[in-house]
Amino acid sequence: MYAIRLTTNPRLFVFSTLRNYSNNVRIISNSFSTKIPTSHEPLPESHRGRVPTNIWEKTNTNLHTKPNHPLNILRKTIESHIQNTDESCMFNMNTSLSPIVTSEHCFDDLLVPSDHISRNASDTYYIDDNTLLRTHMTAHDPYLLRSGMKAALSTGDVYRRDTVDRTHYPIFHQMDAFKLYQTNSLIKSKTRHQIENDLKNVLVDLAHTLFGQGAKFRWVNTYFPFTTPSFELEILWNNDEWLEVLGCGLLHNEVLEKSGLNSDEVQGWAFGLGLERLAMILFNIPDIRLFWCTDERFVKQFNDNFHLKDMKFKPFSAFPPIEKHLSFWVNGQFHENDFCQTARAVGGDLIEHVEVIDRFQRNGQESLCFNVVFRSLHRSLTHVEVNEIYESLRQQVATNLPVTLR
Ligand code: DAH
Repeated sequence: MYAIRLTTNPRLFVFSTLRNYSNNVRIISNSFSTKIPTSHEPLPESHRGRVPTNIWEKTNTNLHTKPNHPLNILRKTIESHIQNTDESCMFNMNTSLSPIVTSEHCFDDLLVPSDHISRNASDTYYIDDNTLLRTHMTAHDPYLLRSGMKAALSTGDVYRRDTVDRTHYPIFHQMDAFKLYQTNSLIKSKTRHQIENDLKNVLVDLAHTLFGQGAKFRWVNTYFPFTTPSFELEILWNNDEWLEVLGCGLLHNEVLEKSGLNSDEVQGWAFGLGLERLAMILFNIPDIRLFWCTDERFVKQFNDNFHLKDMKFKPFSAFPPIEKHLSFWVNGQFHENDFCQTARAVGGDLIEHVEVIDRFQRNGQESLCFNVVFRSLHRSLTHVEVNEIYESLRQQVATNLPVTLR
């Protein structure tokens, strides 16, 4: 999440009914196209340079709509929960919005500061200077608001250059929702208070649906550029660990205005959650790469007709890991994600974990040593094949990154 944690703030909630925003959406200005992009065309080769092929090839997979896939099962559970919270308000359920967005949609329209790390090329897959693979599903909210939607829940794949381990994968899935309410300048602050209660009630109910009625939760005040106030919901897991489950808040007035709405007349809530993280906790899935595997021993364990509580993944035998070290001097602008990225591009899903295990400075130059753990989810790897991948990783690192191998 792009959050900066501020304080811990557990609360109790008062249930209230609120009238949601009905017809009469007043579009103040609409200089933007309101055509909603759905599935995307393949990009011309010339534009793909900055997105590795193994990432690009997955952009049309849509795990969240694959029958019997755990992410699809979870999405549908959450969709029906959210829709059932208010019969008078129809949520637009979007599952095929194109992952290719502009930086205006992904950042500017959401008030993401111009120097925010999420905009860096070491964190985000840019296709060209102004086009990128979305880093979060919130990227669509201003666009959907502009098109006149009053409530929406959008699910899709999001892309981030990141570390490589069992809980991080460059592609994951998010659900992002918003709901608008009608107000006027006299009662605006009262409405905002009620909207906050409504949001928290909806999400606590959702947490109970997913984690059981007895689940303990707490609210943490936080920061998101596009909501104010902003909160995270945390769940007490196994009685000893607080897990962050989702981010949410009241839509920032400026986001509403930028989306062509009058913030004196319309207010709203929004929330976003990561599906893999939830599914890993709920179904005991130990490695994020499993979501992409087509091995029957994984796939057969999930079914659209099973009850959520009955789906607990039973691990099949673990194959042995093979570890390799790679050390180099850093000569220029280098980010650890660049190394992780190269490792994923060369070794694909055979790479389980990448980590810096040694770092020192000599004569003003930095030396890094990475440990790369190879392990297949399906079979035992041979030393010969791992050595081959390792050699080509060394070559790629030496050619493409500002480093000198040691
Ligand atoms: N887009 C945020 C992220 O990826 C999550 C989020 C937080 C979405 C708050 C929201 C929201 O809609 O209101 O970290």
